[in-house]
Amino acid sequence: MNRSLLSIDNLAVHFETPDGPARAVDNISLNIHAGETLGLVGESGCGKSLTALSILRLLPAAARMSAGEITFKNDNLADFTDAGMRHIRGREIAMIFQEPMTSLNPVMPIGFQVAEPLITHQKLPKADAYSQAAEWLEYVRIPAAGKRLNDYPHQLSGGMRQRVMIAMAMVCRPLLLIADEPTTALDVTIQAQILALMRRLKETQQMALLLISHDLSIIAQMANRVAVMYAGQVVEISPVKQLFDRPLHPYTQGLLRSIPLPGTVEKRLFEISGTVPRLTDMIRGCKFSERCIQAQKRCYDEKPELLNIGDGRKVRCWLGQN
Ligand SMILES: Nc1ncnc2c1ncn2[C@@H]1O[C@H](COP(=O)(O)OP(=O)(O)OP(=O)(O)O)[C@@H](O)[C@H]1O
Ligand SMILES: [Mg+2]
Repeated sequence: MNRSLLSIDNLAVHFETPDGPARAVDNISLNIHAGETLGLVGESGCGKSLTALSILRLLPAAARMSAGEITFKNDNLADFTDAGMRHIRGREIAMIFQEPMTSLNPVMPIGFQVAEPLITHQKLPKADAYSQAAEWLEYVRIPAAGKRLNDYPHQLSGGMRQRVMIAMAMVCRPLLLIADEPTTALDVTIQAQILALMRRLKETQQMALLLISHDLSIIAQMANRVAVMYAGQVVEISPVKQLFDRPLHPYTQGLLRSIPLPGTVEKRLFEISGTVPRLTDMIRGCKFSERCIQAQKRCYDEKPELLNIGDGRKVRCWLGQN
């Protein structure tokens, strides 16, 4: 569990704007151990998806990755050619995207879409690839999977499309699955089924999972460790239990207060007063200081580093370091 499978060191992503560079990902460092689930949480726009897309070199064309090293199994991913990266994508690192329909091809039958990586990457004969595809569709509980190989995505419900995406991601047995808000678009019952499926996959397939969500209750159920992002930075990393028992960063404390109580159906979004700074703002001190109810003078003047405080915890806060 302790070997780092993926490590991200000082990753920065910015966009040029008329107001100067918008620092969407502002020097992120993270690592994921083989077999673990790392939850990445934070409110909309904090840079979660861009961090994930950087790993696979799938950033939008306007994005500039200005620094940072990403190491996967001791290889620096920057050294890979585009062809080398295509080989890694799908085969060793798979991703479930935030928008399901962007990765399913509407004019191709689902059986083909699940079998295709086996044919191109693993050079399996077609018949074998299709029978494995059917097995995976069965495994993700597509009813009567064998008979649905010729169905098109529009013939499936949202929950089933998500299952097909998971089958596509899993078919080459990746070492790391990146799942970006895999259940956000689904209703609560289907969401629970998909999460149960992902847990089962984790247990049986020995893969690591980078699970991105703005929903802390999902992270609590699924993650071993959690990284909390705010305005492009990691503000806290912690084993899941310690984070929920004793959150150290005032932002994490605010997020936890916004979790609905058990038994309530309504999922309120975060209600921390104030707004996130603009990505082009130059902030002298802590990026959260303007919204922080505990901020002191130092917090406005000096940038806190993400400091290792022991027990597998790190926090970017002048207060939480004591
Ligand atoms: N093409 C772009 N041009 C300019 N800014 C962009 C572009 N794409 C993303 N951004 C900005 O980068 C920031 C981070 O975006 P990202 O998609 O990583 O956020 P996120 O944490 O995944 O949010 P969400 O929870 O809504 O998915 C956002 O504030 C967004 O406005
Ligand atoms: Mg996103």
